[in-house]
Amino acid sequence: MPGDKSISHRALIFGALATGTTRITGLLEAEDVINTARAVTAMGAKAEKQGDVWEVKGRGVGGLKAPAAPLDFGNSGTGTRLMMGVVAGHPMTVTMVGDASLSRRPMRRVLAPLVEMGLEVLEPGREMLPLTLKGTSELIPIVYTLPVPSAQVKSAVLIAGLHAAGETTVVEREPTRDHTERMLRHFGASVRTEAKGADTHITVKGHAELTGKDVHVPGDPSSAAFLAAAALLVPGSDVTIEGILINPTRIGLYITLQEMGGDVTFLNEREEGGEPVADIRVRYSRLKGVRVPAERAPSMIDEYPVLAAISAFAEGETRMDGLAELKVKESDRLQATAAGLAANGANVRVDGDSLIVTGSGGLKGGGVVTTHLDHRIAMAFLTAGLASEQPIVVDDSTMIATSFPEFRQLMETLGASYEEPARLGERS
Ligand code: S3P
Repeated sequence: MPGDKSISHRALIFGALATGTTRITGLLEAEDVINTARAVTAMGAKAEKQGDVWEVKGRGVGGLKAPAAPLDFGNSGTGTRLMMGVVAGHPMTVTMVGDASLSRRPMRRVLAPLVEMGLEVLEPGREMLPLTLKGTSELIPIVYTLPVPSAQVKSAVLIAGLHAAGETTVVEREPTRDHTERMLRHFGASVRTEAKGADTHITVKGHAELTGKDVHVPGDPSSAAFLAAAALLVPGSDVTIEGILINPTRIGLYITLQEMGGDVTFLNEREEGGEPVADIRVRYSRLKGVRVPAERAPSMIDEYPVLAAISAFAEGETRMDGLAELKVKESDRLQATAAGLAANGANVRVDGDSLIVTGSGGLKGGGVVTTHLDHRIAMAFLTAGLASEQPIVVDDSTMIATSFPEFRQLMETLGASYEEPARLGERS
């Protein structure tokens, strides 16, 4: 499996902020991550592939230079938001741009704490890309309570905090993925995580010194989700996906699939580079509907489209609660998922922030899914189509390259067959 997207972005960024060379194996070579590699390179921390290894020549915390042109983050919210934390700590003016999907996504959630620390937004009040930001070498440390459960916002504030004088604390009400904390420690930063009542306080010491390290990126559980779904839905399947990240902040989908009666087992559990990893074996299973609690949402936030598709093949109701954040992903995934399922004959409804799918053991298919430039919508339905009665058509699949360029080839290796829409059109 290709490397984890979240960890790949962070390895490049922390490599750029470290002194010396960082060597990364298993980096995800997808468009989103390549855009982050280009961004750090444009800021003077050359990231390039040498044989099988990506090398980043870091410039130290606060040592990057202003890029000569706007930084283009394509489809990537993670690249954009984490790099805003970097720009905040440098006395430079940087313009950030992205594609149509990214240009509709909310940036206020990141800008608000960073402005509190000293970042300047050159068109005050502007909250979406394109944005021109002015950082400073005199950031003020803050204590910031996350208003939404977002690892991207947490990470942006902690990254800015590396550059501030003193300690910066992020308070989390609900745990979100903790790759930033883990990897910052690996690079030598002082990061404290403390439970205080129901909250978690994460504190980073400012004027940090990071040192270039070796990083191994484990397989991406969010991409592996599509292979796992294919195995669960297609009779006779027995698939083992090797070397997948099983960090507890990322495996909500796999726990849910087990609760649904899915034959999903973690084999050969081990630790690689500070992250827990396993091989995941998935066998075809008859599934039943379950209730997925809101508290689980951050640990599977990117997996709801595929879970919803799987739920259509289960018997009974699957109720997924607490999905407000799904509305601000690469598309409004709550609507896009519901619309795609409805177009293919599923019994689905949206109730506030909840998605309810009543499965009847199978999906009719035959519909066209509007993907809204969203890779996970495309992949969820290209997986559901493997087991639906009629083929499922997605209106676009090019954006799959933003996170999982090997998707089609890997699925075909498992026995899937895909046709280009023109051929489907000819056939009908
Ligand atoms: C990510 C965090 C999540 C997730 C995204 C990657 C990260 O976004 O949806 O795909 O790498 O920190 P939010 O933090 O905005 O919820």
